[in-house]
Amino acid sequence: MRILVVFYSRTGNIRRVAEAIAERLKADMEEIRDARSRSGMLGFLRSGYEALAGKLPKIQQVSRSPSEYDLVLIGSPVWVGKLSSPMRSYLALYGRSIKQTAFFCTCKSDEGRAFKEMEALSKKPIATLCIREKEIKSGEYIRKIEEFIKSLT
Ligand SMILES: Cc1cc2nc3c(=O)[nH]c(=O)nc-3n(C[C@H](O)[C@H](O)[C@H](O)COP(=O)(O)O)c2cc1C
Repeated sequence: MRILVVFYSRTGNIRRVAEAIAERLKADMEEIRDARSRSGMLGFLRSGYEALAGKLPKIQQVSRSPSEYDLVLIGSPVWVGKLSSPMRSYLALYGRSIKQTAFFCTCKSDEGRAFKEMEALSKKPIATLCIREKEIKSGEYIRKIEEFIKSLT
């Protein structure tokens, strides 16, 4: 089975989770990158605004075609209770070409509406995983990732 892990990460949390998942599944990876820098306080504020307003910011060209994979795992941080805007842009472009999917997110408290938005732009997921920042710090996220991976098969 060909598996692709696609993620967007502004500050590294989702990247860490995505790498742990991809390593265990021997999956290919695709990192979604902003066309314009999102660092600093202005980047933070713009991120919140774009998530709330449902914006589709420009992202850099991707290198893999999700339609060539049997399963595409999609990872995004939660922004103001919603999907991060760069991942929304990716799913608006490619979400419909995904055959089978599962979602994961990192957040401070909960996933809010992020998974619902992801589903509306792609498919019903076969599994979901939400990891809180404190679970990354404590190392608890590894156990949750292993449970998530078991639920994919
Ligand atoms: C603009 C913005 C809004 C956020 N809003 C929420 C939120 O509503 N709920 C929540 O639990 N975490 C929220 N967070 C925290 C992020 O989801 C969390 O830090 C996540 O782990 C970041 O992932 P990353 O390091 O891969 O970018 C927000 C972060 C940013 C930058």
